[in-house]
Amino acid sequence: MNKPHKHQDAASWEPSPNNLEPFWMGFTPNRAFKKRPRLIARAKDMHYYDMSGRAVLDATAGLWCSNAGHCRAPIVEAIQKQAADLDFAPTFQFGHPKVFELASRLATLAPGDLNYAFFCNSGSEAADTALKIALAYQRTKGQASRTRLIGRERGYHGVNFGGISVGGMVGNRKMFGAMIAGVDHLPHTYNRAEQAYTKGEPKWGAHLADELERLVALHDASTIAAVIVEPMAGSTGVLPPPVGYLKRLREICDRHGILLIFDEVITAFGRLGYPFAAERFGVIPDIITFAKGVTSGAVPMGGVMVRQHIYDAFMTGPDHVIELFHGYTYTGHPIAAAAGVATLEVYKNEGLFERARSLEGKWADAAMSLKGNPMIEDIRTLGLVAAIDLVPVAGSPGKRAYDAMEQGFHDHGIMLRITGDTIALSPPLIVKEEQIDEIFADKMPKVLKAIA
Ligand SMILES: Cc1ncc(COP(=O)(O)O)c(C=O)c1O
Repeated sequence: MNKPHKHQDAASWEPSPNNLEPFWMGFTPNRAFKKRPRLIARAKDMHYYDMSGRAVLDATAGLWCSNAGHCRAPIVEAIQKQAADLDFAPTFQFGHPKVFELASRLATLAPGDLNYAFFCNSGSEAADTALKIALAYQRTKGQASRTRLIGRERGYHGVNFGGISVGGMVGNRKMFGAMIAGVDHLPHTYNRAEQAYTKGEPKWGAHLADELERLVALHDASTIAAVIVEPMAGSTGVLPPPVGYLKRLREICDRHGILLIFDEVITAFGRLGYPFAAERFGVIPDIITFAKGVTSGAVPMGGVMVRQHIYDAFMTGPDHVIELFHGYTYTGHPIAAAAGVATLEVYKNEGLFERARSLEGKWADAAMSLKGNPMIEDIRTLGLVAAIDLVPVAGSPGKRAYDAMEQGFHDHGIMLRITGDTIALSPPLIVKEEQIDEIFADKMPKVLKAIA
């Protein structure tokens, strides 16, 4: 057997180039990474530390998830205790208290009558769970012809088959063939000519929700189960919703008996200053997906919240018969549930959602102070999120932002998230005002100079 990178002795493992080879990294140019790795050894609060102990300011909450900051004592302790008390128990036919406690807390936190939580292990699973619940709901209501799902261009709903089918990121779709059938897409809402350098929701673009009427006219409402959108598209470069857009989507869905799903994997848990973005925008969807911030990234967990009428539609038939044929071995895993409960406590005790809201103005002003830099084409902000569109390198899309991310980490001690030629910033909600200045008045100008 040819195993060029064979390694037997765990005690002697060193991160040499050869030893990095066997891990096939996702969403990463593997060869470039392994030539000059960005390895992280530990983290605390607002900082990562590399293998040499050098601090790197976390301007991205890891991957939009560490909203409470890193290695927070109450969360660490809850995980440790749960691992010692109950490492695993199934939640098919059995249960354990933590997962019920977490569901109760989420139901209290969610707006309107989003009273029920179904758990899974990631945002991708949450998106597919939401789509499956929508299809099954329509069927239980005697509307079995409603099988079509509507997503949006530039949407991101994870990497599973349902999510990539309704998603609108070309790179995530084109390698994987036909995907699931019966899907259509709304247009995305970004228009630089109309919206450049907007803080918060752009004024232009609510009319794009009316494209849903066009899709209804084309396919007929009787074939459409659900529409899924991120309230603020995150992964394709931060596209805040135009003023009034989400309300209009809600109205059109109501008119035609179509379920509205908000994918809040990024926007939930304070990113936009509220427990859920639905509350910020005053729109109650039928289903909300969540993940990431529910445990502040400390243990994988995702889930969906559903409204009372959705849950009720399934609670029919004989008592001993399963109502929904869906679930994962690790649905509501005890350690994830314990991390979730402890994380929600931290958010509450430290007022982190309110904190994000109160910092939004300062954050937006600081981000916009970069306007005028010759490397920048647009800046957008919403909540504690900022996107900076860079001038692409001619003939080499994505190179400018890649260089910014790499040099940011190695030379300027900042972790940046990139997508295409956009830098997306989303710090933990514990970010201090001085650290906002550090990001925009110190580190970002240096990074922009380095890549010019
Ligand atoms: C809106 C949205 N949905 C789904 C996902 C997928 O989440 P995960 O990577 O946990 O599967 C993401 C990840 O960034 C996301 O932003």
